[in-house]
Amino acid sequence: MLEVARIVGGRALRGEVRAAGSKNACLPILAACLLTPETVTLRNVPDLSDVRYMADILRHQGAEVTSPEPGTLVVRAATVGHRTPYDLVRKMRASICLLGALVGRLRRCEIALPGGCVIGPRPIDLHLKGLARLGCDIRHEAGYLHVDASSARGSYVFLGGRMGSTVLGTANLVMAAVLTPGATRIDSAACEPEVTDLCQMLVRMGARISGIGSPCLIVEGVDALRGCEHTVIGDRIEAGTYLVAGAITGGDVLVRGVPEQHLGAFLDKLEAAGVTLESGPDGLRARGRATRPIEVTTQPFPGFPTDLQAQVLALQLTVDGLTTVTERVYPARFMHVPELQRMGAEIDLEGATAIVKGGRPLSGAPVMASDLRASAALILAGLAARGETWVQRLYHLDRGYEAFERRLAALGADIARLPASAMPTGLADD
Ligand code: EPZ
Repeated sequence: MLEVARIVGGRALRGEVRAAGSKNACLPILAACLLTPETVTLRNVPDLSDVRYMADILRHQGAEVTSPEPGTLVVRAATVGHRTPYDLVRKMRASICLLGALVGRLRRCEIALPGGCVIGPRPIDLHLKGLARLGCDIRHEAGYLHVDASSARGSYVFLGGRMGSTVLGTANLVMAAVLTPGATRIDSAACEPEVTDLCQMLVRMGARISGIGSPCLIVEGVDALRGCEHTVIGDRIEAGTYLVAGAITGGDVLVRGVPEQHLGAFLDKLEAAGVTLESGPDGLRARGRATRPIEVTTQPFPGFPTDLQAQVLALQLTVDGLTTVTERVYPARFMHVPELQRMGAEIDLEGATAIVKGGRPLSGAPVMASDLRASAALILAGLAARGETWVQRLYHLDRGYEAFERRLAALGADIARLPASAMPTGLADD
């Protein structure tokens, strides 16, 4: 059933919220459970459609996946199938992180090539370059990758691409290398906290990885990995989204569960925009509005995260002056702009840069979500707009935000999730 979010703007959000477990840590970590026949217990697992979907893919590969209590998943992959079909991969391109896990465990795999998505092409040339450097034989056939790693050995890999490092490319290469004989050195590895969380779990399983958290990872292959228990880190993108919800409404929001060092560049820009920030053992707190225009450029970690680009762009609509937002990770990631323009936003797109002429009043309108982070940005704009905003195709939001509207309502927002049929006639776009 299609659902919409109905938001009536104008309320300052106040209170505290705990970030759920990180989606982007959890997805490769679930794939890594296939690297051992023993039991892996994961805690702080977020209740998201992408996570439920990844659990179904693991079941398809032959793993037993149970949830003894909310937030906990127990995975046991006694045996694992080597083939992952297109109809599974195409629905969630992050399933490409099965590639490294299947190569690591089975020394071979047949996996469908993922498609692109609305935020732009999602190539995997770096993933394949890394596996080829390990000596894997890789064939493309009828939309599938056939990988044979029977003669793979540890090697040196420079994993940087034209856009810098690759998050899932690094995850895939590490998962392949931990069970590949010899030493593998990965330069220009991604340093995102989600990659660090994966590596720390792999070490708990008996992998030998050094340089964790740095752009240079060194993996010593071992014969086998054991089961473990692991608590997934908090979702820094969700945390940043709630901090923007506080700032865009001129409220006072405390977000627990994510350390400030996971959001350094983002917090730096929020402060530059004039938001009062506090960080301490209790969490991260945003008070008051943004008051200054800023210049934002997205980059791989520790740079400003592309997954918070749409949210900070929405925030700067409420600030007098010109804010520039430049995408150096996904240059086409501006599907939220035409929808924000329907709400009265004045934004000029010049290639990979959005020039935001902030300070114009935002008025509520029916808008269409296009992707996960754009849908969050539209809701944030609705919190600051005058009148009613209807955000359609809410399934995009549910991929990465757990009970988003309920938790915003708990902070004082006037927001509700309704069936699409509840939209006043003539407002629905589809
Ligand atoms: C991860 O995607 C995240 N997804 C994305 O979050 C996030 O936006 C992205 O990293 C960047 O931080 C998950 O972790 C599940 P990349 P990933 O490989 O790994 C280019 C969200 O909203 N590239 O780091 O697929 C690529 O085109 C999602 O939660 C190549 O050129 O991203 C992009 O421009 C959206 N060749 C850049 O690198 C490759 O082989 C970064 O991509 C791989 C990537």
